[in-house]
Amino acid sequence: MRIGVLTGGGDCPGLNAVIRGVVRKGVGVYGHEFVGFRDGWRGPLEGDTMPLDIQAVRGILPRGGTILGSSRTNPIKIEGGVERIKENLAAQGVDALIAIGGEDTLGVAKQLFDRDVKVVGVPKTIDNDLNATDYTFGFDTAVNIAMEAIDRLHTTAESHHRALICEVMGRHAGWIALHAGMAAGANVILIPEKPFDIEKVCAYVESRFKTRYAPIIVVAEGAHPLEGQMALQAGELDAFGHVRLGGIGEVLAKEIEKRTGKEARTTVLGHIQRGGTPTAYDRVLATRFGLGAIDAVNEGDFGKMIALQGTDIVRVALAEATAELKTVPASRYEEAEVFFG
Ligand code: F6P
Repeated sequence: MRIGVLTGGGDCPGLNAVIRGVVRKGVGVYGHEFVGFRDGWRGPLEGDTMPLDIQAVRGILPRGGTILGSSRTNPIKIEGGVERIKENLAAQGVDALIAIGGEDTLGVAKQLFDRDVKVVGVPKTIDNDLNATDYTFGFDTAVNIAMEAIDRLHTTAESHHRALICEVMGRHAGWIALHAGMAAGANVILIPEKPFDIEKVCAYVESRFKTRYAPIIVVAEGAHPLEGQMALQAGELDAFGHVRLGGIGEVLAKEIEKRTGKEARTTVLGHIQRGGTPTAYDRVLATRFGLGAIDAVNEGDFGKMIALQGTDIVRVALAEATAELKTVPASRYEEAEVFFG
């Protein structure tokens, strides 16, 4: 078989490990051939390819980013996009496609599968918000980067008696904030799933200052206050209709200063959470996902997403995996709340 591989959406540590797993087993065990499509769905849409053989995947296991490049191109939004993809796959002699991506990339994969494209999906996102898989690779790396940053913020916050706010990624789901905040002992963690009460946040801040232990607030970029409490700015939309976030940390700092009279500063971790080398956990998970994906293609089991359930690598229908996001349940947030204040 000749198999196309693409990586779409926001990049994430471990993408290269997946590609390596797919190609090493695909060529070495099954004798398949591969072609890489550049920059997510833009590749098959425009017929932009690169060679993808054993040599191309040598040495990429520990490297962050993706050797294939990525984009947020949405072919469904482009007139005739699906037909162009099908024509380009046929022109390249591609029998099947492995799409590595998050909710958007896999949503497109599902729609292509519905229109007879043989596709298998691999879940990727630092946000860990994909349903049907317990974890996505990249999440562990992002959490560890954020945890280390919060540890560092603790010591400087104490020296200066400041409230320090750490804004982390997480558009619709607060998994990174929850795990990094729990691991690093945050004063309070604010996530998109639970609108926060600014008065309570300020009370936590005051109580930490009373004990001479400076407060650290971990806030997910998608977190928002209870209705009417604070004004928020609107951002631009991407091709999948997502608003570009970032800024809640700054808004919070101003509000905390105004309400408590204490100095508050914000650190936005942003893309640092997505860059660089993956943790051992993410390398192993990504490698196992890659092996699972090529096994599914080899068996002709299309329209599936590879997933982790418990410690097992399993296959779930793309339709099921992309039906809804996996957000933080109230019970998980309550565990973290024990340590607030
Ligand atoms: O979906 C992954 C993610 O890192 C989100 O946490 C974040 O909101 C978004 O991508 C940012 O995307 P970009 O930097 O590509 O605009």
